[in-house]
Amino acid sequence: MGPEDFSQLAASRYSARDFLPDPVPQEVLEAVLEDARQAPSWSNTRPFMLALATGERADRLRASYLRAFDKTLDVQHKERGTTARIPLTGAAPDGDYKIWKAYPSDLRPHSIAVAKALYGHLGIDRRDRQARDAHNRRNCEAFGAPVIGFVLIHSGLMPFAALDAGLMLQTLFLSAKAHGVDSCPIGILAGWRAPLDAEFDVPRDYRLVTGFALGYASNAPVNEFRAERRPLRLVAPREEGCPPAAGA
Ligand SMILES: Cc1cc2nc3c(=O)[nH]c(=O)nc-3n(C[C@H](O)[C@H](O)[C@H](O)COP(=O)(O)O)c2cc1C
Repeated sequence: MGPEDFSQLAASRYSARDFLPDPVPQEVLEAVLEDARQAPSWSNTRPFMLALATGERADRLRASYLRAFDKTLDVQHKERGTTARIPLTGAAPDGDYKIWKAYPSDLRPHSIAVAKALYGHLGIDRRDRQARDAHNRRNCEAFGAPVIGFVLIHSGLMPFAALDAGLMLQTLFLSAKAHGVDSCPIGILAGWRAPLDAEFDVPRDYRLVTGFALGYASNAPVNEFRAERRPLRLVAPREEGCPPAAGA
C-alpha cells in the first residue's frame, strides 16, 4: 500500500447518517475488530471495551433510546427550569457524562458551523425545532444501521482511557471503510446508560463515552454531506531566549 492509498482511505471515511438494513457479515465484523486491536494504548492497558448489538437486540436498543430521547426533549431544548424539574420526573438523562454541556467559547463556533451546514444541506431551518428533533431522533435509531456499537472506558485511567478508545475507534472505522463498511460515531447515545445496561453486563468501572453505527450507507441526500476538515493546528514555537508571551 502506497501513501496515496492511505490518504485516500482516510479521506473516504465520513460520518454516514442513513444506512441500508443489509447486515454486515460476521466475518467482516471480525476482520474489522482484528484490525482495531492493532491500535496503541497507554502502557498496553487497553482501558476500554466495546458492546456490539445487531438484529433484535439492536432494534430493542433503538426503541428504548427513542423513548429516553423523547422523555428528555426539554433538557435538549434547554427549556427554562428543566434542570430543577426534570429530576423529579425521573426523565433526566442518566449517561455517565453530560453530553449537552456548553462548549468552550473558542470551540463553539465550529460546532455551530457544522450543525448549520448539515441542517442547511438537509433544508432544515435552524429554528424549526420539530424538524431538528426528527433528525436527532434518527441518531437514537443509529440511523438504521445493522450494527450499533458502544465504547466504554475505564474510569480509573482517565484521560488516557478516552484517548486510547479514540485511537482504537478510528482504526476500527478505517478498517471498516477498507471493507466497504460505513460508520458514524454517535455521541448522543452516551446521553443514557439504562438502555445499554438493559442489554449488556457492563463491568462496574466502565463508563459509556460514545455509541457508533456500522453498516452500508444508503444513497439518501444526508450521506452526500461532508463536514469541513480544517488543518491540524500547531502550537507556535517560542523564539529562543524570549520570555513567554503576555497572558500565556
Ligand atoms: C465522539 C464523536 C461523537 C459524535 N457524535 C455524533 C452524533 O451523535 N451524531 C452525529 O450525527 N454525528 C456525530 N459525530 C460525527 C461528527 O459530527 C463528525 O465526525 C464531524 O462533523 C466530522 O465529519 P466526518 O466524520 O464526516 O469527517 C461524532 C463524532 C465523534 C468523534
